[in-house]
Amino acid sequence: MNSNEVRKIFINFFKQLDHKIIPSSSLIPADPTVLFTSAGMQQFIPYLSGETIPPYPRACSYQKCFRTSDIDKVGDEFHHTFFEMLGNWSFGDYFKEKAIKWSLDLLVGKYGLKKDKIWVTVFKGNNDIKKDTESIEIWMRNGIPRERILEFGMEDNFWGPVSTTGPCGPCSEIYYDRGEKFRTKKCDLSNCGPGCHCGRFVEIWNLVFMEYKKNVDETFSKLPAKNVDTGAGLERLTAVLESKESDYETDLFLPLIKKISELSGKSYENNKKPFRIIADHIRASCFLIADGIFPSKEDRGYILRRLLRRVIRFGKTIDMPKNFLIPLSQIVINQYSFLYPELKHKENDILTIVQNEEEKFEKTLLLGLKKFNKIAKETINKNKKNIDPEYVFHLYDTYGFPFELTKELAKERGLNVDEKSFREKFKKHQEISRAGVEKKFGGHNIYAIKDEKAKIKATKLHTATHLLQAALRQILGNHIQQAGSDINPERLRFDFTHPKKLTKEEIEKVENLVNQKIKEDLPIKVEEMSYENAIKSGALAFFKERYPKIVKVYTIGNFSKEICAGPHVKRTGEIGKFKILKEKSAGAGIRRIKATIIE
Ligand code: SER
Repeated sequence: MNSNEVRKIFINFFKQLDHKIIPSSSLIPADPTVLFTSAGMQQFIPYLSGETIPPYPRACSYQKCFRTSDIDKVGDEFHHTFFEMLGNWSFGDYFKEKAIKWSLDLLVGKYGLKKDKIWVTVFKGNNDIKKDTESIEIWMRNGIPRERILEFGMEDNFWGPVSTTGPCGPCSEIYYDRGEKFRTKKCDLSNCGPGCHCGRFVEIWNLVFMEYKKNVDETFSKLPAKNVDTGAGLERLTAVLESKESDYETDLFLPLIKKISELSGKSYENNKKPFRIIADHIRASCFLIADGIFPSKEDRGYILRRLLRRVIRFGKTIDMPKNFLIPLSQIVINQYSFLYPELKHKENDILTIVQNEEEKFEKTLLLGLKKFNKIAKETINKNKKNIDPEYVFHLYDTYGFPFELTKELAKERGLNVDEKSFREKFKKHQEISRAGVEKKFGGHNIYAIKDEKAKIKATKLHTATHLLQAALRQILGNHIQQAGSDINPERLRFDFTHPKKLTKEEIEKVENLVNQKIKEDLPIKVEEMSYENAIKSGALAFFKERYPKIVKVYTIGNFSKEICAGPHVKRTGEIGKFKILKEKSAGAGIRRIKATIIE
């Protein structure tokens, strides 16, 4: 049964049981405190938490997910960064009885799995939340004998919340016993069963009974309704149904695996780890770019850059030819666009970005590798085991080596790197560069301008910068993020994430929109609030992790909302006429606009 059938059967099964089919949400979640969408339930949090009345009582979906926590595990049989999650939900409608019964109906009745190979786990209880005896009884009533129902604690059988607070609950995981021949790793046979990592038992579905809410003080309270949230990884389920040793041998990955083999002239069988890492990461990168993420030094962009750099580095270990990211990306786009059309829409962006990153990384990698070899030699000669953190940071800062890359290279030579010292250096560096940026460009330097006329003009340009960002987002899309800003009394300079040159029409539209907002003479309101509330209210932030607890939020009519230190004019009408002087590249995936105002 191929993956398309697996997906289709799942969705149809729940559709016939009155579930509304909800399209996958973006990999960038609505909650700005969370980096990626990592579970199907994320888009339903307002319904699960009781914040919003659900418009339908039951839902099902196949959802794009991305989990950074598993990057280092990629290369084994079943782990991924990007994956698709199949799921069904009840928002205060059905609960354990139906969720459990239907899961077996689907697995055994539709997918044809053998019931006597199914094992399940349930929550064994703790001081806060009692043991899930109800689920044990339901599983037994549905024909799963007590000896195949195991009990585990919080770590394994309690799911959520996604952020620090929110809906969560005990869960019941379904495992499939694939038999001896799938045991690819040694294990303690006397203890082998669900949870053992030898490959014989595979977790295929997680049923979460969401009736709790975790609070800020880490206590649990009951949610207004009893909900169901389930998730089954499509890749894993397909591998089990196709009796494949790993997800990478299913039709979801075969086209990529074949292409990697064709390009490198190497066999998958002898190079499983690099093949799997390349396939996983290039697929994930395409999906991230399609959702508007660009490689950068921070946050999501940093993760994307790290993935692409790992693809290139592992590509080298199997002699992949130059420019291999493009043909691999094309496979992902062709294979998935019928379900995720954003890949086709963003085809140009994807191909341009992966190519740019490859070229850029090639250059720095060569220099960096030389440097690393020198450092490693020096460390070994000095009889040391740890690479000096100063060097690790230097490799990051000057040669673009992600920390993890240096760690991997060091490990290959039997050396260690100290992550804590690196992170400390990294933080310090950010503080210094932020202070520099503030001094040079930020609000404070406007306060410091002595000449009153120049100060007023810079303030106007500052407000115009906010209008410009909002206009860019409205016209080009919400992927636009500030990447830098510089204001002097003559002009503003604004750098932002966008993959290609703006057309003449786009520039005109942006300019006109800013001028229209100036004409509307919108009031500028300033409020003080916690950083968290500012983000929740939709305010844009630039140096996300470096803001103080209480921030100022500047709102311009209904058009723009940003966290900012000021100063700004009182009404947009004070600005004068806005004029874009220049639009050009400011690095891969970054554009720069210089503009001024005519008073
Ligand atoms: N939220 C649960 C999970 O991610 C079930 O979908 O496993």
